[in-house]
Amino acid sequence: MGYQFLTARRDGPVEYLTLNRPDVRNAFNEHVIADLTAWAAQARDRAERREIRVVVIGGAGKTFCAGADVTWMSKTVHYTEDENLRDATAMSGMFLALDELPVPVVGRIQGAALGGGAGLAAICDIVVADEAAVFGFTEVKLGILPAVISPFALAKIGRSAARELFLTGARFSAARAKEIGLVHAVVPAADLDAAVGRYVHELLAAGPEAVAAAKALIAAVWGRAAKDAMPMTAAAIAARRVSIEGQEGLRAFLEKRTPAWSEQYKDTKVTKDTKG
Ligand code: COA
Repeated sequence: MGYQFLTARRDGPVEYLTLNRPDVRNAFNEHVIADLTAWAAQARDRAERREIRVVVIGGAGKTFCAGADVTWMSKTVHYTEDENLRDATAMSGMFLALDELPVPVVGRIQGAALGGGAGLAAICDIVVADEAAVFGFTEVKLGILPAVISPFALAKIGRSAARELFLTGARFSAARAKEIGLVHAVVPAADLDAAVGRYVHELLAAGPEAVAAAKALIAAVWGRAAKDAMPMTAAAIAARRVSIEGQEGLRAFLEKRTPAWSEQYKDTKVTKDTKG
């Protein structure tokens, strides 16, 4: 499938997705949103068929993503209220589709992740950032709101950090992004691909169905009282224990061997596709 502003490449079970609009720092307009929404739909299908087990999202050029395209947004003044609502709903749908992908998503962040770019970082399960990268929920500085990204950003950084950072729109460092849970690893730019590769390797060593179930579990348990979650969590582990994959994992441990699912991927190399 061809995309206007994305490149997608498969390396075995790993899909490398690159935002590809570097002249405007990978800012997204309606075309990027359409591309990402279409990609997410077909990636979901392929993930459900276990054709892909991990997604790495990066940005071409020196910046991961400068958020929504300001030129595009400024034109929306001429839209009717209905047209504006339709546009914003499409953007919301894109973030939701990415957030709900049933495989782990690793973000590779260089340069900056601002506004919706920080929102894209928030929908990643694991985020690796260049130590010089700059983050920010900068929308209020433009007189607008981090609205559609708020469910994803709040779930990552919590209410206290959001009250500071959504309200000031201040830019912050990769170190601060790690402190508030938006980023998981901060490394020098030269080590970005290697750090992403270590996470990919770690993910491929885990049971594919177990990883998908763990991701679904987090979404299902989040915000529930332990007592309410209990029937679902007990059912989830019971199902895994008797599954073919669960049995293979448990037996492999006892037999001191590599489980079948990770054996074939143990030599998977880190590719440079998303290198900025
Ligand atoms: N929308 C549209 N165009 C954007 C953009 C955005 N969000 N962010 C950057 N660009 C454009 C610039 O206007 C510039 O265009 P030009 O070459 O025609 O002048 C080009 O991308 C390069 O931007 P520049 O600022 O020169 O690049 P940089 O590498 O020095 O800095 C950023 C990169 C991302 C730090 C900086 O561009 C920036 O702060 N952008 C605004 C981000 C923002 O506030 N996003 C929130 C949107 S809700």
